[in-house]
Amino acid sequence: MNLTNKTIFITGAASGIGRECLTAYVREGARVSVLDRDENALNELKAQFGTEVLLAFTGDVRVKEDIKAAIEKTVAAFGDLHVIHNNAGIASPSKPLDETSEEEWDSLFEINLKSVYYTTKYGLEYLKQTRGNILNTSSLVSEIGQENHAAYAATKGGMSTLTKAMALDYAPFGIRVNAVCPAGVWTPMLRKWAGEQPNTGEIEQYLDEIHPLGYCPGGDVIADAAVFLISDSARFVTGCIMPVSGGAELGYRR
Ligand SMILES: NC(=O)c1ccc[n+]([C@@H]2O[C@H](COP(=O)([O-])OP(=O)(O)OC[C@H]3O[C@@H](n4cnc5c(N)ncnc54)[C@H](O)[C@@H]3O)[C@@H](O)[C@H]2O)c1
Repeated sequence: MNLTNKTIFITGAASGIGRECLTAYVREGARVSVLDRDENALNELKAQFGTEVLLAFTGDVRVKEDIKAAIEKTVAAFGDLHVIHNNAGIASPSKPLDETSEEEWDSLFEINLKSVYYTTKYGLEYLKQTRGNILNTSSLVSEIGQENHAAYAATKGGMSTLTKAMALDYAPFGIRVNAVCPAGVWTPMLRKWAGEQPNTGEIEQYLDEIHPLGYCPGGDVIADAAVFLISDSARFVTGCIMPVSGGAELGYRR
C-alpha cells in the first residue's frame, strides 16, 4: 500500500473523479477527509467506509469558514495532514465568453480556483509539518483550450499555472505541488454536460474518438495517477501538469 498512515483532505469527492480518488486512497491505506456540498452522497460514503478512515464534511468550497473548519477538524481527529487534493469543480456553462453571465463567471472562478486559495491558506502550515503535498484536478483544456467553454478553460488554465507557481514557492519546505489533467472521464458532471450539448446523440462516439487510446474512461484512471503523484513514489516530482488523457492532446486534428 502506497499511502499507509497518510492523512488526505480532498474537496468534491462525493461524486465522480473525486469519489474514485477517495476510494483509491482508502484502499492504499490512507485516512481521508472530504468536503463536499452533496450531503446525501457523503452519508453513503460514511456508511461505506466508517469513521476510522473517513471524515465527511458538508460544505461549500466557496465558503472559507467551511474549508477552515473542515481542515482543522481533520487535523484534530487524525492528528496530521499530508495531502490536500483540490478536486471540486463545475464545468457549466457551455458558452463563449460574451454570452457568459457575470454570475456564471464568478461561480466558476470561486469554485474551481479561489477554493485553492482557501485550502492553501488554512492547510499549508499543516503540510509544512509533514513535508506533505498538494494535488490539483486541472483539465487538459488548460493546455489546449476548449471551444464554447471560455470561462471554464480560463479557470483550468489558472489552475495549471497556479500549480507551477505554488510548486516553486513551497519547494523550500519540501512540499510538492502537482496537477492531473483529464480529457474526458465519465462522471455525473460529464453526463450532465453531454445532455446539454446540441449533438447529444453523437457525444459518446465523439468522446471515445478524442482519446487516441480509443475510449472515454472512468475516474479510476485518474485515481491511479493521483495515487502515484501524492505518494512517496513521486518524491522528486513537482510542478508536473500530468495529462491522463489517452493522448487526447497529441497530433493534428480535423
Ligand atoms: N469529468 C471530466 O470529463 C473532467 C475532465 C477534466 C477535468 N475534470 C475536473 O475533475 C473535477 C471533478 O469533476 P467530476 O467530473 O468528477 O464532477 P462531478 O460533478 O461528478 O463531481 C464534482 C463534485 O464536486 C462537488 N462540488 C461542486 N461544487 C462544489 C462546491 N461549491 N462546494 C463543495 N463541493 C462542490 C459536487 O457535489 C461533486 O461531488 C472537476 O474539477 C472537473 O473540472 C473533469
